[in-house]
Amino acid sequence: MVQQLVRLESNQEIAQGMFLMRFDSRRIATSAQPGQFLNIRATQRWSPLLLRRPFSISRVVGSSIELLYNIVGKGTKALSAQIPGEEIDVLGPLGIPFRYDGLFETAVLVAGGLGIAPFPFLTDFLEKKKATIITFVGSRSLFKIDMLHLRNVQYATDDGSNGFRGNVVESLAEYLQEHTLTAPKIFGCGPTKMLSSLSRLAQAKELSCELSLEGDMACGIGICQGCPVERSNGTKKYALVCTDGPTFDCREIKLPSP
Ligand SMILES: Cc1cc2nc3c(=O)[nH]c(=O)nc-3n(C[C@H](O)[C@H](O)[C@H](O)COP(=O)(O)OP(=O)(O)OC[C@H]3O[C@@H](n4cnc5c(N)ncnc54)[C@H](O)[C@@H]3O)c2cc1C
Ligand code: FES
Repeated sequence: MVQQLVRLESNQEIAQGMFLMRFDSRRIATSAQPGQFLNIRATQRWSPLLLRRPFSISRVVGSSIELLYNIVGKGTKALSAQIPGEEIDVLGPLGIPFRYDGLFETAVLVAGGLGIAPFPFLTDFLEKKKATIITFVGSRSLFKIDMLHLRNVQYATDDGSNGFRGNVVESLAEYLQEHTLTAPKIFGCGPTKMLSSLSRLAQAKELSCELSLEGDMACGIGICQGCPVERSNGTKKYALVCTDGPTFDCREIKLPSP
């Protein structure tokens, strides 16, 4: 893990409401793995009272690090105002990566909205493993992501404007009824309700499934105890999303009902 001031190479809106930020860091690039995240402050425009915010590493290309984000509140608004050449303060890579090298042949990536953020990086590693990849992407309405490094994308939209009409987990459930997948493993990322439905589906079908949780975080390094998630079993009642996750086997944790 390093803490570094890095200079932005680019930071632009690449689709409606979706920003791609790029900066150079050989130190992070050589150690990062898919599913890990960075805890960030935008130095020039950040209020001194504002804590760092966590973002998944979306892709590593050479020594360039890419992040994908949308504007939610103060932190992401400040981040979107940063211009190339300005610095951001980055802490990471943090967290436990996806277990992408296990015994599976078909990787089923399931994203709710900006939950796609860690998947371009994961796709790079899955391609090296020669896994078959299917990517399910859900959004409220048409969501343009053709420019992202994803494979075999199946869209689901609430309003039916692109692909399946309904949510992304319903879309996956229908797909699983119609197709037989060879040795599948599901990787999910998105809002908690969506992950909760995905976990239920995976467990009902007895499919291996890992989830990347997106809850609020403060320190990102296990000090503040501010990111608990209930464990399903074991001696400790809670796990910390920042240091025990953000990736968990769906059977390890209890998420609130969808
Ligand atoms: C491990 C991890 C990885 C993440 N990766 C990404 C990523 O790659 N791209 C990305 O865009 N976001 C990602 N997030 C979420 C991101 O950190 C939040 O969107 C960000 O903290 C919002 O900060 P803000 O200051 O803009 O909003 P705030 O001012 O903190 O919040 C504004 C409002 O939005 C709500 N809110 C904040 N965060 C979330 C959330 N995650 N879901 C729903 N409501 C929320 C708050 O409760 C508040 O009501 C990740 C979160 C985690 C824990
Ligand atoms: S964010 Fe502080 S312990 Fe997890």
